Amino acid sequence: MDITQEMINTTTDLMQFLDDSPTAAHAVLTMKKLLINNDFREISEKDEWDLKPGDKFFTIRNSTALIAGIIGNSPIIDTGFHVIGAHTDSPGFRIKSNSVYEKEGYIQLGVEIYGGPILATWTDRDLTLAGKIIIHHNHGIETRLWRSNKNLVRLPNVAIHMDREVNDSGLKLDFEKHLPPVIGMAGSQPFTKENLKQLIASDLQVTADQIVEFELEIIDPQKASFLGISNEFFASGRIDNLMMCHAALSALTSIEKAPDVTMVVSLFDAEEIGSATMNGGGSPFLGQILERLMLTQDYSREDFLRAIAKSFVLSADGAHAVHPNYVDKYKAKHLCRLNQGLVIKLNAKQRYASGPETTAQIELLAHKAEIPTQKYIHRTDKPCGSTIGPITATNYGITTADIGLPMVSMHSIREMAGSADQYFMVRFMKEFITSDL
Ligand code: CO
Repeated sequence: MDITQEMINTTTDLMQFLDDSPTAAHAVLTMKKLLINNDFREISEKDEWDLKPGDKFFTIRNSTALIAGIIGNSPIIDTGFHVIGAHTDSPGFRIKSNSVYEKEGYIQLGVEIYGGPILATWTDRDLTLAGKIIIHHNHGIETRLWRSNKNLVRLPNVAIHMDREVNDSGLKLDFEKHLPPVIGMAGSQPFTKENLKQLIASDLQVTADQIVEFELEIIDPQKASFLGISNEFFASGRIDNLMMCHAALSALTSIEKAPDVTMVVSLFDAEEIGSATMNGGGSPFLGQILERLMLTQDYSREDFLRAIAKSFVLSADGAHAVHPNYVDKYKAKHLCRLNQGLVIKLNAKQRYASGPETTAQIELLAHKAEIPTQKYIHRTDKPCGSTIGPITATNYGITTADIGLPMVSMHSIREMAGSADQYFMVRFMKEFITSDL
């Protein structure tokens, strides 16, 4: 596969998106700016809606999930909805506000694990903090996003002299004991939560007492970069699944004139922890928004249920590319490769929602647009991961297919994917949302 300039351009845009989005809330803010720049109007779930064909809208739930769309010209009962679903969150660590402590002269932060990170990849890197800061004003509270612009924390390994087996048995980290990072050395006065608040407050230009609460994440400040002889790879944190958020938004914002079909991009939080939150894939978020898009145009509940029966959800998430050093971990007839186009994900236990009908529809659509496809099945002797696909299919009874792009190092602090593939995905999603599936 030759990497064309167009492919490099799409991936460069994705890399900027990744750099701007160290947490799910930052990603939603990045997307909000992109949508506003493309004439999408923010609407609140608390207000009465008034949307008509041609309108471009988006709504944010709890600052980490976003649904955006364009109302099509054809009646929704005739076409149904074309939905692309993905998730905004990534595995990592969470730090609550009471977590500061001192030990043996170090200042440290207690952590909780979020999702399933490859823990060893977080060690011995120069890291920092970002998160949601809740500020108090006279008129109530406000959520602000913060990201430190200096390297603040590190999770140092113990020397090999204290762990001689590390290369034989792998780096074993006790979740409670070995994961708190260091953030400084203790001084003559104890370092407390108030000191951490002061540090955040000065960046946000508020006073420390205005900060009522905060929740932080450890983030990797290293920017995304191309690598390989011909720039055929790129590496970054959070490729799973901001790559698909970026693809969906790029496709949606590239639509110039109002399409026939009503198209919706639904980006959920909490996929990495099971989707059961107010704005995760298991919540009623998508169903409520789709129903309201119909009610605001004077359709009935029955019309909505008819539209659901005609709708299609494309669930887009990271897929596993074959790793040359671990070929035996993959199913031989279902090896997917970087830069070989979009992956259709299949699983007998429906951990992925695709079935033979939806697979055929995806393949035909891709073929028409000259986009290469490949198929993935997980080894049957290992538990398969899942996506929001089966969850939205189960919740709403909508026809769903699971697709994605191949990557290696999934859930590492720094993942790697192919530089050609996002170009294919954006084109495919554009084809999907404007098709008559
Ligand atoms: Co994912």
